[in-house]
Amino acid sequence: MSQTSMKGAPRSKEFDDVYFSVADGLAETRFVFLERNDLPERFLGRNEFTIFETGFGTGLNFLATWQLFKAHATVGQRLHFISVEKYPLSALQIQSYLHPFAHEFPDLLPALVKGYPDPVSGRHDIAIDDHVRLSLCIGDMNDIIPAVSEQIDCWFLDGFKPSTNPEMWSPTLFSNMARLSKTGARFSTFTAAGFVKRGLREVGFEVQKMRGFGTKRDMLVGEFRGCE
Ligand SMILES: C[S@@+](CC[C@H](N)C(=O)[O-])C[C@H]1O[C@@H](n2cnc3c(N)ncnc32)[C@H](O)[C@@H]1O
Repeated sequence: MSQTSMKGAPRSKEFDDVYFSVADGLAETRFVFLERNDLPERFLGRNEFTIFETGFGTGLNFLATWQLFKAHATVGQRLHFISVEKYPLSALQIQSYLHPFAHEFPDLLPALVKGYPDPVSGRHDIAIDDHVRLSLCIGDMNDIIPAVSEQIDCWFLDGFKPSTNPEMWSPTLFSNMARLSKTGARFSTFTAAGFVKRGLREVGFEVQKMRGFGTKRDMLVGEFRGCE
């Protein structure tokens, strides 16, 4: 897949979408995926907290989550961050695209670049530090998620926008989210597309529309209530 870079923000030509906000990608990540999922509060009382992300991209969401976890984890607590990626970037691309945020992650960005695997298909389990595991699953989300067995505390739904990438926002994603979610699992996503909202409601999520980041009017958040 080909990317262009606009004011430091990578953009996919095929999907006509950006990897993160041109205005402030890190502020967007913190707003949409951390604050809207009640992190770090939700880390409390969990020996291991497991997050599943659709679309690893540059790893910006991962870095911001890792940083937050490091700042708030209690003794012995662990984070497992599972992410799928169909069109993996190289370690060099990640380093270059995240350069504008390098000062925010003086230790974590170099550690991610160092630990990032050769971008070949399959699951790569990386002990990124003593308390944090990154499982980077390279392939199509629809092929990968049926084989996942971890119970998930929190979902970051971050593929490209549903209007240009509808295949990723699939019934396979929604039904597997229901299969893998712990009761009370949270999700957030930058989109407020109607079919995403309906798909999640149908499998047992309570879904709420909230104000989006910056100029975006709406986004979705919710919690898994279980199937009827
Ligand atoms: C908006 S970007 C994600 C940004 C990313 N979370 C970050 O922190 O940089 C969306 C990502 O979803 C990936 N993607 C799109 N469709 C996919 C699919 N069917 N399976 C897996 N990954 C997919 C794209 O390659 C892209 O990297």
